[in-house]
Amino acid sequence: MDGHSLGEHWLLRPDVDFLNHGSFGASPKCVLEAQRGWSERLEREPIEFLAPERTLLPKLDEVRDVVATQMQASSRDLVFVRNATEGVNAVIRSLPLQEGDEVLITNHGYNACNNAVRHAAEVAGADVVVADIPFPIRGSDEILDAIAAALSPKTRWVLVDHVTSPTGIVMPVAEIVRLARSRGVRVMVDGAHGPGMLSVDLSSLGADYYTANHHKWWCGPKVSGFLFAREEWQSDIQPTVISHGANTEGLGDTSFHANFNWPGTFDPSPLLALPTAIKFLSGLFAGGSDVGPGINTEGMRALMQRNHRLVVAGRSRLLDRLEVDAPVPESMLGSLATIPVPGWSGLTDERLREIAERLRGEHRFEFPVLRVGNQGCLRISAQAYNSIEQYERLADVLATDQALVARRGSQS
Ligand SMILES: Cc1ncc(COP(=O)(O)O)c(C=O)c1O
Repeated sequence: MDGHSLGEHWLLRPDVDFLNHGSFGASPKCVLEAQRGWSERLEREPIEFLAPERTLLPKLDEVRDVVATQMQASSRDLVFVRNATEGVNAVIRSLPLQEGDEVLITNHGYNACNNAVRHAAEVAGADVVVADIPFPIRGSDEILDAIAAALSPKTRWVLVDHVTSPTGIVMPVAEIVRLARSRGVRVMVDGAHGPGMLSVDLSSLGADYYTANHHKWWCGPKVSGFLFAREEWQSDIQPTVISHGANTEGLGDTSFHANFNWPGTFDPSPLLALPTAIKFLSGLFAGGSDVGPGINTEGMRALMQRNHRLVVAGRSRLLDRLEVDAPVPESMLGSLATIPVPGWSGLTDERLREIAERLRGEHRFEFPVLRVGNQGCLRISAQAYNSIEQYERLADVLATDQALVARRGSQS
């Protein structure tokens, strides 16, 4: 099956080439139907459904087991959050930090989460150190060297992305964890893009904390995500919303679960529909075999490999037409890729916005136009509903539309 025929499973507008799964994901129709089903069940019997001890907690535990199996973690070490931003905030704002301490982030980190770090550091009187990772990049050694150079005896913890948002780099997180832990430094991994893009094995990764979104590459309904923490740190983590779990029996098997299970009245339907999303995705490239009622692990791997191959092929088409060298080795990509566009160097923000508007309004593409340093770039994503023709059309447009290249007076 190719992206053409699979597109019908999503609601995405057929007159727009949607190459931006990475920003907010997109849920297949069957997942939205499953979510609706859960909402209707809830609304038929609100008390029976939402009173935690009746229906809700056992249902949350079922979803937790699904996530734990996919992430090769113990269910005991996982709680649910609304999204990766919340997961990062919960951990970062709970971590011990004193005046004079240092915390490490990278220049490819996600702005919202780096802001959470800056806030925590400011409150404690600590310093934020930014590891400067190059782009273009030749290999993961350059990342490890940048992080090693930025660590100091004062570093208390590191926040690092599993897949970087502006540049689509799959970071060598296992090596970063080894390096940091060898210096007694804890590591929080922002894995917003991890599940559904990469095979993640939390039991061997060794990270102290890992958070991720369900609504990105797992195509779960918006909004839901998880937070993993090693057992020894769990009792220190406060959720972003303190609720009944802080002093009420029966809200979870552990205090970690209890603290996060009930963030106040909430809509659990995105979480409850997540298994439908993973099952659906895992059946798309399962080689024609009957997936049955469960999740096909091989099928999930096949989808991730297919999306990786597609983004690499799409990126090649664009690099060839634009006559640009690959800014990141293929082996460091998942299913996101950022491409520097030669004519977009040194452009003002306003000019980059105009270009993005033209690409969307005139040419019917949806993907981010962004700046990495002084270089204007575009970022493509590849999900099941995408096909190579979409990237080929984009390459043609970029090579032929003169209005998309720099004009005099538009340099910053
Ligand atoms: C690396 C990274 N972290 C965090 C986020 C934030 O995701 P959310 O807004 O769902 O919390 C994103 C979103 O794109 C991201 O790319």
